Amino acid sequence: MSVKISVSRIEQLAASRKMSVEEVISAVSTKRGDYVEIESTSELQKLADILIMPMSEVLRGVCTDLTDGVKILRRDEGFCKVSNRGGNEYYTYQHLATSNSAPELMALKVALHCGCLENIVLNEGHSSREVVYILEGVVRVDWGSSAEAGRRTEVLNKGDSIYLSPNVPHSFIALEEASEILAFNYCLS
Ligand SMILES: [Fe+2]
Repeated sequence: MSVKISVSRIEQLAASRKMSVEEVISAVSTKRGDYVEIESTSELQKLADILIMPMSEVLRGVCTDLTDGVKILRRDEGFCKVSNRGGNEYYTYQHLATSNSAPELMALKVALHCGCLENIVLNEGHSSREVVYILEGVVRVDWGSSAEAGRRTEVLNKGDSIYLSPNVPHSFIALEEASEILAFNYCLS
């Protein structure tokens, strides 16, 4: 492994321990301009020991997939998966720009394959809050109880959006071919 940690980050960590950058890094590495290069896990462990903090704290904000705070994901580059419900293809999930710096946020484009009212299967709800935007087509949303008696339903058109609270069972199906939604899931820790 090799990790570059900015001198300003080391400075911040060292200051919290009333130490200087030199006192912190002299035993493990050398400064190279405005960063310090840590070349092994044992070197990182040594640095963490000197700072009296876990390695994860030393690495916090360092090993991100961002470039100056930004991640770009090109069309069709994201993870893609077809999910089944009730034995039928239901959704194709495609990740939108998803960063390891924000595990609480999940953004997806979802193609809806189910268009048959008899095949509607609600999920069990999930712990994240969710906002869904209708990107293409006409979509039927069902929510509430998975038993038909306690279920609510609504038709959503292109440009409509819906907010779903955590743990509310729900389903989206296509009332028009090629219906697609954008889904933004957010977990409060
Ligand atoms: Fe959902």
